[in-house]
Amino acid sequence: MTTVALIPAAGSGTRLGAGMPKAFVDLGGRTILERSVDGVFAAGVDEVVVAVPAELLDATRSMLPRVHVVIGGSVRSDSVRACLAEVGPSASDVVLIHDAARALTPPEVFTRVIDAVSQGSDVVVPAVPVTDTLKRVVTQQSGAVETVVATVDRTPLRAVQTPQGFRPEALRRAHAAAGDATDDAGLAEAAGYAVHVVPGDLMAFKITTAWDLRIARMLLESTGV
Ligand code: CTP
Ligand code: MG
Repeated sequence: MTTVALIPAAGSGTRLGAGMPKAFVDLGGRTILERSVDGVFAAGVDEVVVAVPAELLDATRSMLPRVHVVIGGSVRSDSVRACLAEVGPSASDVVLIHDAARALTPPEVFTRVIDAVSQGSDVVVPAVPVTDTLKRVVTQQSGAVETVVATVDRTPLRAVQTPQGFRPEALRRAHAAAGDATDDAGLAEAAGYAVHVVPGDLMAFKITTAWDLRIARMLLESTGV
């Protein structure tokens, strides 16, 4: 069973606000991207393709000699498609897509996803239960005032992470039409595929805001992961 991982790392990191593309921000002496790539190889993945901003192509190739590096697109799904074009449709038995921004994802999450695809699922996502109480709101005309219209039952809700796992054919079909989604399983779902869920891990959280980066740095210091 061979596995290839596609890592979209071409985002600008607007919400993090670090003044540089998020994947290249320092996380305990190494970039977020290097830590993500290390995690992917530690999980036994055979081949890795990374999409980065055009201006960082050469620097990334020097930084990551073991991986294929391509230029990403203006939205996340374009970056994934740029990676896909590099590997071709049938280069492996399992294709993983993993956000560079989930730099502390434990190897067990990769294993659960790869195993589920190996055992016959077309599309697999890791996910964790939602712990906060959820409210649906409407925004009043000024935009400043929100009013609750419903309290949502969180029992059947899951927060979805990466790596997401695909049979190559399912991923190719999911990306056959242009379009963007924050996760690739969403595109596969729209293309008619059943999406199976395996347990995720809180350590697979996405570094999105300055708060998340602070937490990631503290976790690295305290656990040495
Ligand atoms: N990504 C990408 N190409 C894009 C946009 C996003 O490869 N055009 C990648 C990011 O680098 C990240 C992952 O997709 O690893 C998840 O995206 P997100 O967390 O939203 O990162 P950014 O888009 O960089 O952040 P923001 O939305 O705050 O600008
Ligand atoms: Mg984004």
